[in-house]
Amino acid sequence: MRIAMIGTGYVGLVSGACFADFGHSVCCIDKDSAKIDGLNAGRMPIWEPGLEALVNANAEHGRLTFTTSLHEGVKDAEAVFIAVGTPARRGDGHADLTFVFEAVRELAKVIRPGTVVVTKSTVPVGTGDRIEEILGEEGVTDVSVASNPEFLREGAAIADFKHPDRIVVGAGDERAQEVLKEIYRPLFLNRAPILFTGRRTAELTKYAANAFLAVKISFINEIANLCEVVDADVQDVARGIGLDNRIGPKFLHAGPGYGGSCFPKDTLALLQTADKFGVDQRIVRTTVQVNDDRKAGMVDRVERAIGGDLKGKRIAVLGLAFKPNTDDMRDAPSIPLIEALLERGAEVSAFDPVAREQAEKVFTGIEFAANAEQAAADADALVIVTEWDEFRALDLKRIAGALRGKVLVDLRNVYDRDDAQAAGLAYYGVGRGRLERD
Ligand SMILES: NC(=O)c1ccc[n+]([C@@H]2O[C@H](COP(=O)([O-])OP(=O)(O)OC[C@H]3O[C@@H](n4cnc5c(N)ncnc54)[C@H](O)[C@@H]3O)[C@@H](O)[C@H]2O)c1
Repeated sequence: MRIAMIGTGYVGLVSGACFADFGHSVCCIDKDSAKIDGLNAGRMPIWEPGLEALVNANAEHGRLTFTTSLHEGVKDAEAVFIAVGTPARRGDGHADLTFVFEAVRELAKVIRPGTVVVTKSTVPVGTGDRIEEILGEEGVTDVSVASNPEFLREGAAIADFKHPDRIVVGAGDERAQEVLKEIYRPLFLNRAPILFTGRRTAELTKYAANAFLAVKISFINEIANLCEVVDADVQDVARGIGLDNRIGPKFLHAGPGYGGSCFPKDTLALLQTADKFGVDQRIVRTTVQVNDDRKAGMVDRVERAIGGDLKGKRIAVLGLAFKPNTDDMRDAPSIPLIEALLERGAEVSAFDPVAREQAEKVFTGIEFAANAEQAAADADALVIVTEWDEFRALDLKRIAGALRGKVLVDLRNVYDRDDAQAAGLAYYGVGRGRLERD
């Protein structure tokens, strides 16, 4: 198949490279010329395991090309995917569809009859209908518009794309279904379930999936709060409930609250849809509140752990990206924590294995260290915010030696209290027994 991908960000680039790897001919389009120039020179705009090798191998085979020209990119395409950003609109949290509609209007000028237009971006219910209308307004009628939401996770994006739990396709007409079946055939043969639904159903499925995962995270975070009062261990509670097949073990890790480019904005957008149609989603509404409070409350944990005022204290922060194996800083829990630390007069020395470049665009007035030990040097406490693998195997004795205050605030529960204490550190995890004992 000949595929065009409009938007070469996280989703567009990973999807484009994987489609090319399936044997399709893919042209990735982006209006950011620096990004396209970089990709044409073999440089990745994002840090994602395995991406560089996959992109460059497919580019060398001529199956994957990059351009800033939408006309050039879509001229021979049988399917055009839209994978542009749909950020939260400032103020009300509605999904901002400006990029989507801009792309559609541009597309309308060059699209050939018979093409299938597929939204991969996460878009509210009814966006496919609006795209069809816009194309009609521009005089384009003989095209199909389908929804194919993407479920990949950053940090495991290629594996997720190639071994998805399911593929959801919302397409009203047979032509769109046939084209998408053909595009996903390699996965289909591997028995990845492909689910054909109505277009609106597909659009809503994506929001429902992310909202449900956000609920799960917030749920375990609230249970963690209770654990800290009743002297129970949330890790064991999570395991105890997660082994129940009806619940499942994933997304039951208590921590500093969810962040990233999807959950925060998608939960807000779902609430906007709920408002628009007058059907309140109370569980999701509460989840958003719980998570906002959670992120804002992390600074108090640090303050409590050092035993008082943060003014003049030096705090080492390990992990800045919103999760491991990515350099994505969007809505990362590290942001409100570090901002609050600075506001309360603390100095911050931070280390992240790959996100420094992105983090430098976000933070001013913090020091960036070259490794965990350097970050810890002379700090009053060490706070683990993102659970990179390399932070799971720190030499705690050395860390304790480097620290001025022997305090470990483990917001990801990667260490055991006993191990930390054996290394001479006071340990503050999340939801791991009564706080006073710490
Ligand atoms: N990042 C994820 O993990 C993830 C997972 C599933 C779904 N999604 C959804 O996928 C969509 C894209 O997310 P992302 O993280 O890849 O965004 P991103 O910001 O990384 O990339 C979007 C790209 O689109 C480009 N763009 C915008 N308008 C354009 C236009 N008119 N023509 C050409 N290029 C244009 C931008 O320059 C940018 O490079 C969003 O709706 C998001 O919710 C993201």
